[in-house]
Amino acid sequence: MLATKCIKTLTLNTGETIPQLGLGTWQSPEEECYEAVISALSSGYTHIDTARCYGNEAAVGRAIKDFLSQSKTLTRHDLFITTKIWCTEFEDPETALKESLQRLQLDYVNLYLIHWPIPMVGGEGLFPRYEDGRRKLVPFDKFNYIDTYKLMQPLVKKGYTKAIGISNFNIPKIQALLDDKDVTIVPAAIQCELHPYCPQTDLVEFCQSKGIVVEAYSPLGSSGAPLQQEPLIKKLAAKYNVSFACILVSWAIARGTVVLPKSVNADRIQANLKVIDLDKEDVSSISEIYKVTSKRIVYPDWGIDIFTSDARFE
Ligand code: A2P
Repeated sequence: MLATKCIKTLTLNTGETIPQLGLGTWQSPEEECYEAVISALSSGYTHIDTARCYGNEAAVGRAIKDFLSQSKTLTRHDLFITTKIWCTEFEDPETALKESLQRLQLDYVNLYLIHWPIPMVGGEGLFPRYEDGRRKLVPFDKFNYIDTYKLMQPLVKKGYTKAIGISNFNIPKIQALLDDKDVTIVPAAIQCELHPYCPQTDLVEFCQSKGIVVEAYSPLGSSGAPLQQEPLIKKLAAKYNVSFACILVSWAIARGTVVLPKSVNADRIQANLKVIDLDKEDVSSISEIYKVTSKRIVYPDWGIDIFTSDARFE
């Protein structure tokens, strides 16, 4: 059993490398997020994942700046920073990214993702809603994720991001994107909910067959890390004498995905760096847990089921 301290990398279709393990920051409040990013960078993480909608880009940026100003070994070029365009910003990705860069105090990000494949009406806050509570979506024919992606393509040449990609897309939507004659850049990466209750093996294999690097968010099952109670995960943690988190992170790495465990706790941030080589049969049995317990945990109330709908979202 080999415990890896040094984080492995994958190569994106741009030729750049991406560390296979990064810090997730969804649900990390501003000040805790600052400390979390400092802890992560001090522990050896070089990959931080944030998003416009998380409300913590400024904290991430401050932490990176403060850390690098003290570091004797690392510079900005050693870091991999991802952010995401929010649904209310779809019609002007260049302005959205420039605003994110300003909050992050960076000249460029390494990866800019479409956070969800569904635009919402702009200018009314992050979560515009009708009086009856429904989210204010923009109709597919008016503006959609393919239009946004096309507007994101020039941002690579302009140097604002090294790569572009997608998040929370299903196979029909990825195919529609790839089939569009004006889409000239294959997404470098896709980020989706991936853990043993939601392994999405078809989606992972489809993306990998297209050269799209797959990133796992909520790898521990999101808030409270519910997968720590899963009997097989507990059993394997005992077998390898490691934490449940190590089993889940190592399973994600064994599947060839990037994995983004979120934590605001310094000890857990450090612990989540531990990766081991799992026996092949253990990787397979973890991949079958969903046959007993299958659930998607991150399911925003879009008013439509964007995970099972086809390329259009009405
Ligand atoms: P905290 O931020 O207090 O550490 P996911 O990555 O699946 O989104 O999971 C994140 C959840 O799991 C958060 O609630 C986080 O809380 C918790 N968590 C992260 N790492 C660990 C760990 N090593 N052990 C237990 N809980 C963890």
